[in-house]
Amino acid sequence: MTRIEIEAHGGPENMKLVERDIPDLLAGQVLVRHEAIGVNFIDTYMRTGLYPLPSFPSGLGGEAAGIVEAIGEGVDHMAVGDRVAYCSGPIGAYASHNVVSADTLILLPTSISAKKAAASMLKGLTVQYLIRQIYPVQAGETVLFHAAAGGVGSIAVQWLKALGATVIGTVGSEEKADLVRNLGCDHVINYRTESVPERVLEITGGAKVPVVFDGVGKDTFEGSLDCLRQRGLMISFGNASGPVEGVNLGILAAKGSLMVTRPTLAHFVATREALENASNDFFAVMSSGGVKIGAPIEYALADAAQAHIDLSGRKTTGSLVLIP
Ligand SMILES: NC(=O)c1ccc[n+]([C@@H]2O[C@H](COP(=O)([O-])OP(=O)(O)OC[C@H]3O[C@@H](n4cnc5c(N)ncnc54)[C@H](OP(=O)(O)O)[C@@H]3O)[C@@H](O)[C@H]2O)c1
Repeated sequence: MTRIEIEAHGGPENMKLVERDIPDLLAGQVLVRHEAIGVNFIDTYMRTGLYPLPSFPSGLGGEAAGIVEAIGEGVDHMAVGDRVAYCSGPIGAYASHNVVSADTLILLPTSISAKKAAASMLKGLTVQYLIRQIYPVQAGETVLFHAAAGGVGSIAVQWLKALGATVIGTVGSEEKADLVRNLGCDHVINYRTESVPERVLEITGGAKVPVVFDGVGKDTFEGSLDCLRQRGLMISFGNASGPVEGVNLGILAAKGSLMVTRPTLAHFVATREALENASNDFFAVMSSGGVKIGAPIEYALADAAQAHIDLSGRKTTGSLVLIP
């Protein structure tokens, strides 16, 4: 098989395409031949070492979709030829094949192509736990979602609208503002040129919002707290601008007895039941037309480094996939 490996944490130039033997399958494992591979911001954190990898050389990526090519002993809910996707590792999805635990594979409905699945499973299940589990958003509520034109953001805007929420989205350019308006976002703030707290105050008539979804991290953290009403919930779920560090907890009292959580997808799909429930919820909102997955930006597997450069450089909208 071919796969992208790195020998050490560092820049995109460390990502090399190599040939490797396909490992033997252990009990409970499945060999998946990839048709499309999801690119996620978390992959850049693993490459740089913000989230350290356990050993080197290491693969990258934790999301892909394709065809079951072989199954190990004791796997009874999958068969060779099934169309599947996974989004919780194992690390090494940037490859033509990966050996995956059968428990983490999702059977794909016929209506969802491999490309669409690789573009949306990790991001869609993230949105699912954010807006349906941590803070179940109700019709009529006004919420703030940062980086609304990104992979996670563009799914979130649509799903929030399908739930009947009023959505305030932030973006880093006027082109991205147009895109999220077309997705249904009610109020768009360009956070490179406007003050987010001031605009949120104005949009909500001084009421502020009950919840902020913040995957940008360092640059937006404090401003996000200023957008929350008393006892509001700050969900800090990413570090696109760098990690949030050194927070004085007293700030939460001073700004209105605020609550903060820092969740990660793995803990919301940790059991087979949780994974199936979240996937089915996501498939349902896709099949009702509430969330449409636009054509992802495609790169050849060999060009994975360029995908990282573009994603980290804020050049992309929606999802990116690699094609092996
Ligand atoms: N905790 C979890 O379970 C979980 C799961 C999935 C994703 N995430 C997080 O969700 C966020 C979005 O992930 P994604 O894969 O969909 O990426 P993405 O949103 O497509 O890309 C990140 C976006 O963040 C914005 N951004 C703001 N400041 C930035 C900076 N200094 N450098 C780079 N980007 C910056 C950019 O949009 P603008 O140009 O519009 O500002 C950029 O396009 C990431 O933080 C990711 O780690 C968390």
